[in-house]
Amino acid sequence: MQINSICVIGLGYIGLPTASTFATHGVHVTGVDNNPDVVKSLQSGKVHIFEPGLNEVVQEAIQGGKFDISQKTVPADVFLIAVPTPFYDGKKADMRFVDAAAESIVPVLRKGNLVVLESTSPPLTTLERVLPILERSGLKAGQDFLLAYSPERVLPGKIMDELIHNSRVIGGIDQASAEAGRDLYRIFVEGEIFTTDSTTSEMIKLMENTYRDINIAIANEFSRLADRFGVDVWEAISIANKHPRVKILNPGPGVGGHCISVDPWFLVEAAPDITPLINTARNVNDQQPEFVIALTRRVLGELKNKKIAVLGLAFKPDVDDLRESPAVEVAEKLHKAGVDVIACEPFKPDFKLEGVQVTASLEDAVRSADAVMFLVAHTQFRSLKPSELQKITSTRLIIDCVDALDWEKSDKRQPWLDAGFTVYRLGDRKNQ
Ligand SMILES: NC(=O)c1ccc[n+]([C@@H]2O[C@H](COP(=O)([O-])OP(=O)(O)OC[C@H]3O[C@@H](n4cnc5c(N)ncnc54)[C@H](O)[C@@H]3O)[C@@H](O)[C@H]2O)c1
Repeated sequence: MQINSICVIGLGYIGLPTASTFATHGVHVTGVDNNPDVVKSLQSGKVHIFEPGLNEVVQEAIQGGKFDISQKTVPADVFLIAVPTPFYDGKKADMRFVDAAAESIVPVLRKGNLVVLESTSPPLTTLERVLPILERSGLKAGQDFLLAYSPERVLPGKIMDELIHNSRVIGGIDQASAEAGRDLYRIFVEGEIFTTDSTTSEMIKLMENTYRDINIAIANEFSRLADRFGVDVWEAISIANKHPRVKILNPGPGVGGHCISVDPWFLVEAAPDITPLINTARNVNDQQPEFVIALTRRVLGELKNKKIAVLGLAFKPDVDDLRESPAVEVAEKLHKAGVDVIACEPFKPDFKLEGVQVTASLEDAVRSADAVMFLVAHTQFRSLKPSELQKITSTRLIIDCVDALDWEKSDKRQPWLDAGFTVYRLGDRKNQ
């Protein structure tokens, strides 16, 4: 298929890198966002989100004269939808953004166009949701226009690199749509491109994240069992993983982020009668913050009026993303239990959390704490030395929920003990 122009709808973490990368590969791109602030910011050359390397590519795209920004969907050879698909209460997929994006294409859809949905979506979304909306144009899918689904599987922090080098899957509503999708992404993708049908490619994205969620759930459940039976789960996992066919993931305070903790619900919602395992795993991970609170009660006794320094609120190390973060939930639960919580989150010090003081300063957080709790293994926390912590707080009590101290290594353990610290780890009853 001849591709001279692309209209990318949604200019967030996925849409903007994709749009600007196409534009730096010689195609004329119009980036569309319905948020006027996003449009205004990009039109003045300012990138509104942080992702390493993104600003450079956007600037190159703008300077090359191939990248326009608009609030309205415009005619193009290809339309690419990259709008959010969050869930709302009751764990249901919120597809209103996808619907609105597809509706915005209807008035400008022409014969021979290709439409690609990239947003993570429940199975059959392309066929049963997007296709009927597009056909309101009077054109017929498969006959007059092409339609495909291609999930985005990049890692935040490495999006610009992974966009180009990861393998990619394109699912068409028919063979011609899949092949047109392959031609489209071949413009910049250097990884392998697999073609299949649209529902399979929707499933692939959801299966990948669900697989990870279930594997973390079993690790979390092992941490509870280890706690009950006087075992150190971290030691047990590291020895079990020496087996050539075992790869147990790490436990922690739960699972967060807007992908792994959300996407499995799309499958449960779509087929509740046949997804008991996925449903249970989600609930296991959602209950893990409560396990952290129980451990804290055991360590500190009555929680009311205790002061705890919480280290980290992000959903994973070294990112500024706090969406669905279990660390935030732990901090909230501690506050509700009467704890005076000060959270140190160097990646988002201006984050507002009711009743919780948030700071970028480790010193301020730990100064008068009764205990220091590691909830995210940010590099800054992992590299903390006992002598450094000793100087800035009088407490010698640590609750480590993410093995931030690398306790399994004997050379790491001894200096903390020598400095007088008592370390309680999640899932480690053996050393308590
Ligand atoms: N961020 C990631 O790391 C990641 C990774 C894989 C998949 N995904 C999936 O990609 C999709 C997009 O995620 P994101 O992180 O880029 O979201 P985002 O929130 O960063 O950006 C989405 C943008 O779409 C705009 N928008 C919403 N409705 C619109 C409409 N009708 N018309 C025009 N613009 C509209 C919003 O204003 C926003 O700027 C989601 O389905 C997400 O699950 C994201």
